[in-house]
Amino acid sequence: MKAGWYEKVGAAREVIHLGEMDTPSAGPGEVRVRLHASGVNPSDVKKRAGSGRPLQEARVIPHSDGAGIVDQVGAGVTTHQAGDRVWVYNGQWERPFGTAAEYITLPMSQAMPLPAQMSFAEGACLGIPAMTAHRCVFADGPVTGQTILVTGGAGAVGHYAIQLAKWGGATVLTTISSEAKAEHARQAGADHTINYRSEDVAARILEITAGAGVDRIVEVDFGRNLPVTQAVLKENSTIACYASMSDPTPTLPFYPLMFRNFNLRLVLVYSMSVEAKQQACQDIVQACEAGQLSHAIAARFPLEQLAEAHEAVEGGQAIGNVVVEIGRA
Ligand SMILES: NC(=O)c1ccc[n+]([C@@H]2O[C@H](COP(=O)([O-])OP(=O)(O)OC[C@H]3O[C@@H](n4cnc5c(N)ncnc54)[C@H](OP(=O)(O)O)[C@@H]3O)[C@@H](O)[C@H]2O)c1
Repeated sequence: MKAGWYEKVGAAREVIHLGEMDTPSAGPGEVRVRLHASGVNPSDVKKRAGSGRPLQEARVIPHSDGAGIVDQVGAGVTTHQAGDRVWVYNGQWERPFGTAAEYITLPMSQAMPLPAQMSFAEGACLGIPAMTAHRCVFADGPVTGQTILVTGGAGAVGHYAIQLAKWGGATVLTTISSEAKAEHARQAGADHTINYRSEDVAARILEITAGAGVDRIVEVDFGRNLPVTQAVLKENSTIACYASMSDPTPTLPFYPLMFRNFNLRLVLVYSMSVEAKQQACQDIVQACEAGQLSHAIAARFPLEQLAEAHEAVEGGQAIGNVVVEIGRA
């Protein structure tokens, strides 16, 4: 099969190689998927660049997310059959070979039905972004009637968090940094957008909520946004954080947070519980089938331009997901 891989960390163009590898066969309990699209996420790019743990694997085919068609099932598989359209997740989590290839084998539970109206490229957007968003929005119960702040609402995760919170019946406030991002967030369903670079975010949130604040926060930059959190999160409420990019070692004002009974939830999509993954997958498929989720594809690259796809994510300018299309001329 054609695949892209790296064997040491470094700059995309220096370490990514393209070539032929043996096509894997589905083992017991596994399906083999002929991939048509592979989603590129910041964690894929950070791992390749070497900003995470030292590389454990001799060779890595990057990317956890993808979509394609099941073409082989292993012994004991009753849930899938050849020809099923699927989206896959956790493809390169604690296993070396991810989705930047023509084929992947993985446990049947990691291949979810791809609704008929969705393209493979759209399916490749779901794994990390939508499952992270789902966990952050719903981990602490239903959100019907609540007010939720989604910081960074034009981000890949933020875009799904807005949509899932609306699907769950919440009012959504979101922070953005430009009019283009505000429009993107409004298209996703945000009720209010606040430019965090030019506006007083806490004052605007308190104005919009008539001084009440918000019931829940989905947070992309925990450390930097902590002052706003303290000002706007209601007592006994949850902030669900999936990144703290500006300040990875924030200082926590323990007593002010404790006296408000804040619940600090940290989310890592890869290792959330099996139950949380199943619930996320089930709800995401249901929302997609009902046409409740739109998918923002910022850029598409053929597999032959895998390094350029990584650079597009590293550039930080993409509004939406970067997708590698496999088998595209
Ligand atoms: N824990 C997990 O399981 C998990 C899962 C997925 C992603 N992540 C991590 O989460 C981060 C975002 O991922 P992504 O795929 O959504 O990336 P993305 O598409 O680049 O989105 C990030 C968004 O956050 C905005 N932003 C940055 N700093 C902000 C701040 N202080 N306040 C409000 N908005 C801010 C950015 O916009 P501006 O730059 O214009 O402000 C951008 O729209 C990455 O670090 C990624 O590795 C973690």
